[in-house]
Amino acid sequence: MKYAIISGSHRPQSQSGKVARYIAERLITLHSEASSEIIDLGQTPLPLWDEGIWQGDPKILDAWQPVSARLKGCDAAIVIAPEWGGMVPAALKNFFLFAADGSLYHKPGLIVGVSASRNGAYPVAELRVSSYKNTHLQYITEQVIVRQVNDVLNEAEPQSDDDASLRKRLDYSLSVLAEYAKALQTVRASGVLNRKEYPFGM
Ligand SMILES: Cc1cc2nc3c(=O)[nH]c(=O)nc-3n(C[C@H](O)[C@H](O)[C@H](O)COP(=O)(O)O)c2cc1C
Repeated sequence: MKYAIISGSHRPQSQSGKVARYIAERLITLHSEASSEIIDLGQTPLPLWDEGIWQGDPKILDAWQPVSARLKGCDAAIVIAPEWGGMVPAALKNFFLFAADGSLYHKPGLIVGVSASRNGAYPVAELRVSSYKNTHLQYITEQVIVRQVNDVLNEAEPQSDDDASLRKRLDYSLSVLAEYAKALQTVRASGVLNRKEYPFGM
């Protein structure tokens, strides 16, 4: 299985990026055949979506097409959403406008909220309300919230009980995601999906 790990922070050196790298390593440890693509929106920012994409404007297309190709090669996505002002960062919402091109179509998604304090639930709620309609990303019911992110996932071994229980929860959620990744391959191959007639959710 191949996983796309999307780090939603604008910051080039973000804690969300740290979480993304931890998850990429964990996927390989848990599932020897797994591989991943980290799409870090802080390190490789996308331009703001604009309608030039419909006219094939190279300014927009050249930035998006390589990302789209990487997503298309994946079976599942892990969306890392730091809480900024009680919201999902604008870069991540912008990403979902681009990703309505079918690259995440009926693939399972795991949401990972991130907070430097004790929050992190708002981005989870926001993604579950928006972001899936036109991408058709199928968020699984498991979700992870990384609280006190500066204090966890820093060393090879857990440094506290909270660090240990978070790692256990992440492993569990990644294992559930792996099963959905297999299951939704069947859905995509079933012939029942009709993106041509229904590209946009209702
Ligand atoms: C503009 C901005 C707004 C933020 N607002 C919140 C917030 O509402 N709640 C919260 O728990 N943390 C907030 N934080 C702190 C982040 O949780 C913290 O930066 C954390 O490391 C995740 O962001 P990162 O991936 O950019 O590092 C905010 C950070 C920034 C840069």
